[in-house]
Parts: sequence; structure tokens; C-alpha cells
Amino acid sequence: MSNISSMTPLTAQRLKGKVAIITGGASGLGKATAKLFVQHDAKVVVGDVQDEQGLSLRNEIIASTNDIDHENIITYIHCNVSDDNDVKNLIDLTISKHGKLDIMFNNAGIYGDTTPSILDTTNENFKSVFETNVYGGFLGAKHAARVMIPAKSGVILFTASIASMMALDAPHAYTMSKHAIIGLMKSLCVEMGQYGIRVNAISPCAVSTPLATNALGMDKETVDEIICESYAFKGVKPEPLDVANAALFLASDEAKFVSGANFVVDGGYTITNPSFSLALTRHSV
Ligand SMILES: NC(=O)c1ccc[n+]([C@@H]2O[C@H](COP(=O)([O-])OP(=O)(O)OC[C@H]3O[C@@H](n4cnc5c(N)ncnc54)[C@H](O)[C@@H]3O)[C@@H](O)[C@H]2O)c1
Repeated sequence: MSNISSMTPLTAQRLKGKVAIITGGASGLGKATAKLFVQHDAKVVVGDVQDEQGLSLRNEIIASTNDIDHENIITYIHCNVSDDNDVKNLIDLTISKHGKLDIMFNNAGIYGDTTPSILDTTNENFKSVFETNVYGGFLGAKHAARVMIPAKSGVILFTASIASMMALDAPHAYTMSKHAIIGLMKSLCVEMGQYGIRVNAISPCAVSTPLATNALGMDKETVDEIICESYAFKGVKPEPLDVANAALFLASDEAKFVSGANFVVDGGYTITNPSFSLALTRHSV
């Protein structure tokens, strides 16, 4: 029988006292994570380029709390993650407001043009996907490391994708960018380990956020139907909160020995390949 007293309690305040930055926090997975982190008592700073959505999230969170310190629990800062000055500013403002940075969640990302063919992929599209998804993650990690290394603690997280592990029908630039983020996560994990800083990534399957519905050109209900039909794990529709819960675990002290992981949240999608059985079914009729 496990020794209950030695287990970390699953309290409602798993991030009490922590300060977290979430890029791309104005929408989708980042927004769900911002709300969840606040519920778990973190002070959250959201950086995004969608100012109206970012400020409305801030107001929504402030309106929903009784915390007397509500002005400090959530902050929105305009930040284009592919702009070095913006990212520097995001980290510096967080430090001047809260005095430290415990969690840097590099989540902002774009899908880019949807063409799956290399022949139709423009060079501009390739560069813009890499600027946001790869250079943006690099800058976030670099500026976070600048303040985490002297503190000898911290957690750096990236949102990758199942496209970091396999070739889907996703555009080449997107697939490459997500593979690259895993390369950065692994290489940083080695360097940051000596300072007690953990580095991990989360790889979600398709979740019907604006990124996914825009990429597929379909409404949320249709995207959810397709997602539920295609995954091995049945009876559950993946939601942004499922990804946010993975981020919560990795950001919290419960994951104090987890570093270098590409934490997959995909209902078993990446370990299955139904193409043989589908072909068999087609040939059997
Ligand atoms: N939704 C999915 O199906 C899915 C699956 C796997 C991985 N992901 C990844 O999850 C992350 C979040 O995506 P989402 O699904 O929540 O999409 P989303 O479009 O709902 O949210 C992405 C957010 O990132 C912001 N953003 C984009 N470019 C930015 C920039 N240069 N600087 C700052 N912010 C910027 C957007 O304004 C938006 O608020 C992305 O990295 C995406 O690649 C999403």
C-alpha cells in the first residue's frame, strides 16, 4: 500500500506561489491553460498579438475571482513571439511586476498555408511558420533562461504537436517546425538540467480551436466529429482543457523529476495505424 503522507496532495492550488507566462494565451489551448493556472493560484502573464481577445480574457478572469489581489493574478501584454524586443519586454515586465518567473509556456503557434504540396508552399509561408513556431519558441526559452538560470529553478514548456512525431497530411513547414521544437526541447533539457530547470513539450492531437477549424475550413462541430471518429480512444472529445491539464502537471512540482519529455495528449492516435485494416476492409467488400 502506498504511503499516503509521502504523496503530493492533489490540491486545488497546484501552482500556489508560481508565476507563469503563457504565449498565445489569448485563444485556444493557451487560453484554457491561463484559466486553469489561475484556478491553481498561479500569477499568469499572457503574451499574444490578439490584444482584444487577450484583454477580454483578462477581464473575464478578473470578473470571475474573489481574490483581493485580482489585478495581479492575470496580466495581458502585447507580444509578438518572433520579435526579440517584444519577448524581452514580456519577461522583463513579468519580473518587475512579480519579481520572478517560474513557468515559461511557449505555446504560440500558427499552422500557415494549408497546402500539403511542397510545390505550392511559398517561401514566405515557410519563413513565417518558422518565425512564429521555432524562432518564437527559441526567443521565449532564451529570455526565460536569462532569468531562470540565476534563480536556479524554473520550468520551460513548449506546445509541439503530434506533427512533431509523424508525417500527417499537415503542411511541410508546420511538420518541420514542430520537429524542430522537440529538438530545441531536448537540447535545452541537457543544458538547463545543471541549473535545476526542467524543459518539456506537450504534443496534442487535433483539438477544435480556431487554429484547427481555420486550417480545415470547417465549423467546430464537424471538426469534433472527425476528431472523435479518427482516434483510437472512444467516448471522449478532446478539449483545450485536456491539454491545459497536461501543462498543469508538467508545470507543477508533481513533475519535479520530469524533464526532456514530449508528453503526448492524443487518445492513442500516434501509436495506431489503421491504413492496413482500412485497405483490407475496402478489398473485402
Ligand atoms: N489545436 C490543435 O489542433 C493543435 C494541435 C497540436 C498542436 N497545436 C499547437 O498548439 C498551440 C496553440 O494553438 P491553438 O490550437 O490554441 O490555436 P489558436 O489559434 O486558438 O491560438 C494560438 C494563439 O497564438 C497566438 N499567436 C500566433 N502567432 C503569434 C505570435 N507571432 N506572437 C504571439 N502570439 C501569436 C494567436 O494570436 C492565438 O491567440 C500552437 O503552437 C499549435 O501549433 C494545436
